[in-house]
Amino acid sequence: MLNFDFYNPTQIMFGKGRIADLDKVIPADARVLVLYGGGSIKQNGVFDQVMSALGARSIIEFSGIEPNPSYETLMQAVDSAKKNKIEFLLAVGGGSVIDGTKFIAAAILFDGEDPWAILEKGGRNVTQALPFGSVLTLPATGSEMNSGGVVTRKSIKAKMAFSSRHCFPKFSILDPATTFTLPIRQVGNGAVDAYVHVMEQYMTYPVNSPVQDRFAEGLLTTLIEEGPKALASPEDYDVRANLMWCATMALNGVISTGVPQDWSTHMIGHELTALHGIDHAQTLAIVLPSMLRIRKESKRAKLLQYAERVWGLRDGSEDSRIDRAITMTQDFFEQMGVKTRLADYQLNAGNIPPILAALETHRMVSLGEKRDVTLDVSRQVLELSL
Ligand code: NZQ
Ligand code: ZN
Repeated sequence: MLNFDFYNPTQIMFGKGRIADLDKVIPADARVLVLYGGGSIKQNGVFDQVMSALGARSIIEFSGIEPNPSYETLMQAVDSAKKNKIEFLLAVGGGSVIDGTKFIAAAILFDGEDPWAILEKGGRNVTQALPFGSVLTLPATGSEMNSGGVVTRKSIKAKMAFSSRHCFPKFSILDPATTFTLPIRQVGNGAVDAYVHVMEQYMTYPVNSPVQDRFAEGLLTTLIEEGPKALASPEDYDVRANLMWCATMALNGVISTGVPQDWSTHMIGHELTALHGIDHAQTLAIVLPSMLRIRKESKRAKLLQYAERVWGLRDGSEDSRIDRAITMTQDFFEQMGVKTRLADYQLNAGNIPPILAALETHRMVSLGEKRDVTLDVSRQVLELSL
């Protein structure tokens, strides 16, 4: 096992009716900026629950944080927070609202001239952030219990990630009942995103880490079992609860302790979103199956373990077990309603060179756990995904 530091200060408040407990975790005299997206929380009653829990606190609202939150929109929130002398931020929504709030929290107190530098330096230049919490409404990203975020600068078509130990939420409220109203597309996206998060931390090479491996395999198996149930019975509370906790556990730092990590699928996926507006999870469903096929030799030992423990494949040659496991992974994404080919999103071979050029611009030229995913490997992966 590799050396590691594990640090995660986020308090999780899980279960039915927990939004009412906001009152206990936000200082009574704080001036609060409540941030949300396009309005789903106004339709499903979450907004009303939040407002009633905040009671008499002094509240300002900022709405309109879009999926794949933009720097342009987030900077308007930074201005509003400064003007209104805000002391606490509350994100109410999915990963985009929570990521956006992390950036705002860091940007408000940022010393440099332009907070875009936070993205350029991956968050290494963040030295403080305003305190914030979240009410999660979409299980997918893990943003509710990690210190990372992804922000898009529309004007230059760049989607960049940052993280900082100052950007953990103080608390996150996870009420599975808030997810009953998710559109089918977001249920599928959430399960696929969480699945690929686990794969980025698990599907590398063995370092004798049975605790992390079995945690990861448990999360993958749970997503395979519970994901389709959420599509079939949207108001099954227990199914939603299992998916919600699974997505949080998939990216809160527990399963990445002491193991190598990949993240090449995510980096290529970010370019697909920045250039073509494809949903985050859709990009992962396109890239991951081909990534595993192209890098089969370097991931052979873990692919065999995955085939056996997650998909129960014990018969046939090693190659056939690996091939079947990758096909079953791709079939699972399709079963969740997430298409897995570039052609499904109206992209063809002519779209590949600009994606490679963007990877080069963003210095994504040696990705993966062995830093051997060069631009040429990325090209092969994209060509196989056509
Ligand atoms: O904007 P509203 O009206 O709220 O609607 C949202 C949005 O349109 C809707 N929605 C959310 N909860 C709902 C709901 N609709 C009905 N009922 C509910 N309960 O869902 C749509 C998508 O929301 P979004 O927040 O964009 O989705 P997601 O949670 O998948 O977040 C995606 C973003 O997270 C980043 C992605 O790159 C992308 O920008 N990621 C963040 C990570 C992190 N912080 O660790 C890791 C991930 O790999 C990912 O990169
Ligand atoms: Zn993701």
